[in-house]
Amino acid sequence: MKTNLLITAIIMIFISSCNVTNVTIPENAMAIIPAPLSMTIQKGNFLFSEKCRIVVSALDDDTKVAAETLALLIKNPTGMEIPVIEGTKAGRGSVFMTLDTAVKTNEGYTLRITPKKIIVRARTAAGLFYAVQTIRQLLPPDVEKESVIEGIQLSLPACDIVDEPAFTYRGMHLDVCRHMFPVEEIKKYIDMLAMHKMNTFHWHLTDDQGWRIEIKKLPELTKTGAYRKETVVGHARNKPNIFDGEAYGGFYTQEQIREIIDYAGSKFITVIPEIEMPGHSLAALASYPDIACTKGPFEVGTTWGVFSDVLCAGKEETFTFIQDVLTEVIDLFPGKYIHIGGDECPKIRWEKCPLCQKRIKDEGLADENELQSYFIRRIESFVTSKGKKIIGWDEILEGGLAPEATVMSWRGTEGGIAAARQKHDVIMTPTSFAYLDYYQTEPAGQPLAIGGYVPLEKVYSFNPLPEELTAEERKYILGVQGNVWTEYISTPEHLEYMAFPRAFAIAETGWIPDRLKDFDDFLARLEVLKTRYEALNLNYFKGEYRDTRKTANP
Ligand code: ACM
Ligand code: ZN
Repeated sequence: MKTNLLITAIIMIFISSCNVTNVTIPENAMAIIPAPLSMTIQKGNFLFSEKCRIVVSALDDDTKVAAETLALLIKNPTGMEIPVIEGTKAGRGSVFMTLDTAVKTNEGYTLRITPKKIIVRARTAAGLFYAVQTIRQLLPPDVEKESVIEGIQLSLPACDIVDEPAFTYRGMHLDVCRHMFPVEEIKKYIDMLAMHKMNTFHWHLTDDQGWRIEIKKLPELTKTGAYRKETVVGHARNKPNIFDGEAYGGFYTQEQIREIIDYAGSKFITVIPEIEMPGHSLAALASYPDIACTKGPFEVGTTWGVFSDVLCAGKEETFTFIQDVLTEVIDLFPGKYIHIGGDECPKIRWEKCPLCQKRIKDEGLADENELQSYFIRRIESFVTSKGKKIIGWDEILEGGLAPEATVMSWRGTEGGIAAARQKHDVIMTPTSFAYLDYYQTEPAGQPLAIGGYVPLEKVYSFNPLPEELTAEERKYILGVQGNVWTEYISTPEHLEYMAFPRAFAIAETGWIPDRLKDFDDFLARLEVLKTRYEALNLNYFKGEYRDTRKTANP
């Protein structure tokens, strides 16, 4: 923020702590990411004690989750079991959480901490949960551990916070096809998003190198499609490729998927499944070769890149297959969006396939781009008939957008700009700012990555609202997302190293207006939050955060 939150906070705490004798306010009091919209420090502090109650005005499943999240933070280091109860006001030493339509935005909240009590107001339970995430970052890092610390006292600086997000969509993506990660790691990833007030987890579940979601009607997808016989070693562009000779694979059962969806839901995060089509489909073709243009046989991909064999757009079996997959996916995932991929689909098989060519003729389509558009529109009408909406990568603009499609702009912001001008919703995730699989510092000495150079400062500098758009058109920009593709990321430790702290810069980009962003202040807050990430055993990147190429070539 333009006013340096951290420094102001430390000074104010010093002043206010002069009136208090037995409570030390931790120095880290104001290191909050994303920074709240406004915060005023008051005198004194609030101490959590045995007499504390968390009183909720309208206790239901959702508000209870928000309240219990706070109760658990207090319980972790103190062992105190703070009751969550329904009521209309809170006594001294207690917390009052209430839903209040006076709070303007859905996920916004106000937080008043006084020496006597804490009052949280929000329009929705999500807003209450975000207030708890703010409280969490005001509490010492000990709250992150699950061990009681003898004699610990938990206190908060008295303050008034008014906070709301700039964007309704704040997401992180994860590719589990090139490499997959244990359920526990996915939960840890979700935890990190929730702590930073992100609300969406985009789960890339199918690709050339592995089909990772159990589909009960199509068992071959996980029997055959979930396994590749070996994996390329080193960078895939180093030809000839060398392979490790080791089988790799696995998948998430529907039960595990439900477990992750529920876990994310308990942190107010919606999971968007991505089922790739019509390209990036080798794992599906290896399982069910009849949905390809040519005979096959096909193999699950063993190297990275874009493959010529894709789903046949001429065969009815292809659409039956996708509808069978999507029927189970839609049953599993409660959110409103289904991501259907749509990126990087070569047309060379379609150009030669009699059935694809017949489809072009029968449907009066101009070319293969329009055939892709036909494909996506047909899938969209199926998804819409089930009450859901599709998202696709920006290639779905080619040949004409499906009527209700949301566009994820990845090849720069141009696709997003074009979609917004056509009155379609947009999520910005351009490679040059939001691809967290790219190198985050000079490549020398870094683990092998796909390429690029996207340091933390560069991520942070992204403004999701393009200057080219009018105020009216900008309303279609729903928000921002960071992507983590895992060709070169095979372990949880490496995943954390690449994703964090860059994902926190995405979180702040989605939460605060661009005019209020200040990278130096963000870095100062990050420094303080590091003790919390250490307590959480997060293997975040600790090297150069600045864009040194920018400094070298101003
Ligand atoms: C993409 O990175 N192929 C969406
Ligand atoms: Zn075909």
